[in-house]
Formats: sequence, C-alpha cells, structure tokens
Amino acid sequence: SKRYNITILPGDGIGPEIMKVAQSALTEAGKKRDVEFAYTEALVGGSAIDAYGTPLPDETLEVCKASDAVLLAAIGGYKWDNLPSAQRPEQGLLGLRAGLGVFANLRPANVLPQLADASTLKKEVVTGTDIMVVRELTGGIYFGKPKGFGVNEAGERTGFNTMIYSEPEVDRIAKVAFEIARKRQGRLCSVEKANVLEVSQLWKERVIEVHKDYSDVELSHMYVDNAAMQLIRRPTQFDTIVTGNIFGDILSDAASMLTGSIGMLPSAAIGLDGPGLYEPVHGSAPDIAGQDKANPLAQVLSAAMMMRYQFGEEEIAAALEKAVNDVLDDGYRTGDIMQEGMKLVGCQKMGELLLAKL
Ligand code: NAD
Ligand code: IPM
Ligand code: MN
Repeated sequence: SKRYNITILPGDGIGPEIMKVAQSALTEAGKKRDVEFAYTEALVGGSAIDAYGTPLPDETLEVCKASDAVLLAAIGGYKWDNLPSAQRPEQGLLGLRAGLGVFANLRPANVLPQLADASTLKKEVVTGTDIMVVRELTGGIYFGKPKGFGVNEAGERTGFNTMIYSEPEVDRIAKVAFEIARKRQGRLCSVEKANVLEVSQLWKERVIEVHKDYSDVELSHMYVDNAAMQLIRRPTQFDTIVTGNIFGDILSDAASMLTGSIGMLPSAAIGLDGPGLYEPVHGSAPDIAGQDKANPLAQVLSAAMMMRYQFGEEEIAAALEKAVNDVLDDGYRTGDIMQEGMKLVGCQKMGELLLAKL
C-alpha cells in the first residue's frame, strides 16, 4: 500500500472544525484504495502566536517542508487583529507560502448544477461557469519592498507598500497558467492594470513573450476593473485567468459568489517541486467559529486538489468530489448554501454524510 506524509494545519476560527471533516473524509477515501496517510499536526497563525509567540514557528515550517504535502484550513481572528502587522496570524500564512515556494495558486470556481440557485446572481447567468484563476502567490504587493510607515514632506504620517514583479516571476507563473489553460478549454485571460501601472506593463509584456511557446492557447488581456465587472456580467466567457497576487485575491473572492458560497471554493498552491499547500479560499470565519455552522466542503475539495496535483491520485480526488456531489444531490446544505426545501445540517453532520457516501 502507498503511504503519504501530510502536514495538517488546522489554524484558527472554523479551521479545526472543517479540518476534522476533511481529514476523516480523506482517510476514508484513501483506505478504500489502499492508500494510507500519516498525519502530523502543527500550529500556524493565531494558535501559534498563543503557544509560541510567533505566527510561524520554525518547527512548523520544518515539518511542512519535510512532508509530502500540506493541508491548511485558515488562520486569523478578532483576538489578534490589533497586533502590529509583522506579528499577525496573516504573516504566518505569507511566511508559509514563501517558505514553501508555492508561487502558483490555483483557485477554481465551478458552478455545480445543484447550487446554481444558491448564487446571489441569476441562475441563467452563472450556469455553466467553470473558471480557473491562477493567482501569483509569493510576489507582488504582498511581498514588495520598501514597505512600512513613514512621514511625508508635509510631516504627515504615511503607509506604503510596493507592487513589484521581476521578469522571472512573471515568466514562471505565466508558464503554469498556459500549461493549465492548454489542458482546459485553451483560453487564457491575463488580468492586470497596464493602462496605469508599470508593474502591469512588464507583466503584460512577459505574458505575450511566454505565449510564443504556447501558440495553441488563445491569449487575451483585460484590465482588472473590467475583469471584476465581466465576472459578474457574464462569467461563462472565462476559462483560465492569470493574474498577480492582490488582483487574484480579490477576483477569486468575487468568483466565489458565482458558485453560491465562498465555503465551496478550494485552492492548491504549488511550486516547481516539493510539498504544495492546499487550502480553502475562505478565511477563519470568526463570526461563526465554534458553532458547528461552517461549510466544510471547500476544505474537503482542497484535499481532493491535493490528491490530484500533488500525488496524481485521480481516483481519490474524484471519490471526494463525487461524495460532495452526492450529499448535495440528497439535498443537504450548510447555512451558507441553504435554500428553501433543502435540509439544513451543521459542519459535523455534513462530515458524517460524506463518510457514508465514501
Ligand atoms: P472569511 O472568509 O473568514 O469570512 C467572510 C464571510 O464568509 C463570513 O461571514 C464567514 O462566516 C463566511 N464564511 C467563510 N468561510 C465559510 C465557510 N466555510 N462556511 C460558511 N461560511 C463561511 O473572511 P474575513 O471575515 O474577511 O476574514 C476573517 C479572518 O480570516 C481574518 O483574520 C482574515 O485575515 C483571515 N483570512 C484567512 C485566510 C486564510 O487563512 N487563507 C483567508 C481569508 C481570510
Ligand atoms: C487568502 C487570504 C490571504 C491572502 C490573507 C489572509 C493573507 O485572503 O488566502 O485569500 O490575502 O492571500
Ligand atoms: Mn483572500
């Protein structure tokens, strides 16, 4: 039998609740196919601040690097919101992404037929949506220097960050995106703000250059403001989107509402080699933490992405995705995707229903 070493990072807020569901679903799906998982749990984010005084303890990063893949829930919460930025839970997450070198974040937004009515947009607008957002994850304004607080010439306080990309950074994310687009419908839309930003002009230039190796893929360009509008207007026009760190963050949250809820959206963060980081797009949802209300499906689907992208275990990935489909077919819904006539269940119950399907 095969055996994979997985680091489990439950994090904060709803993290531990949804992780429990995903971990037991993954174990079960593996067992049926003679695949075993050895789990090592570690702390990151607020829980690590409380235990070690830092959001990313060295030993957490070491454990992650030594494993085959990392499954993360979410970090952050009210308790740590007033700490200086270098000490916040979010820095733990950014440090983890940088430390693992996972520069490509795949954020699919598929509208499942069962949930087409759960979107706040009209059913006929969202039906058929199948978008892959490829978000650059270890560069751009999140990591650019200089950054900090200062004082301007008028003696007023300032805060500043730097949005910067190097040519190699753009080239490698563009390659990943072209490869993915090639396996999908063969259409890539590069999203930037090249009408205003130099960093975007460089981005666009490099994407056009890299395209020369992928002439079978149809490339288009769109300004980020228009892209936000087009996503809501006619989401089915998009196949694969490639964009920088902050634009990808914002557009993937917007895309989540096409699918009914951010509680449905998984992601995979991968580098050139080594363990990837698999995490839902949503955060720690402190407003519903500890109430058994969270939707665990994004976490389960993130585990499915791990099986597919890290290990090529397509059967396990498909089994997890089918279980999600089946419980939705049976009419079970957590609060975030609840609709009239459906059966409202909590996080834990959703987990039990999934296990029964697996
Ligand atoms: P959020 O995604 O945590 O929550 C936004 C809204 O969506 C909330 O109303 C929440 O209840 C709901 N929601 C999110 N996930 C859900 C789920 N699985 N089931 C049901 N409802 C769900 O975003 P926020 O409120 O802006 O941020 C909360 C904290 O999470 C902050 O500290 C933020 O920095 C952090 N955060 C972490 C990550 C991450 O770890 N990857 C991502 C985003 C935000
Ligand atoms: C996400 C989150 C993170 C990001 C935060 C918590 C650092 O919003 O994973 O989408 O901005 O990347
Ligand atoms: Mn985000």
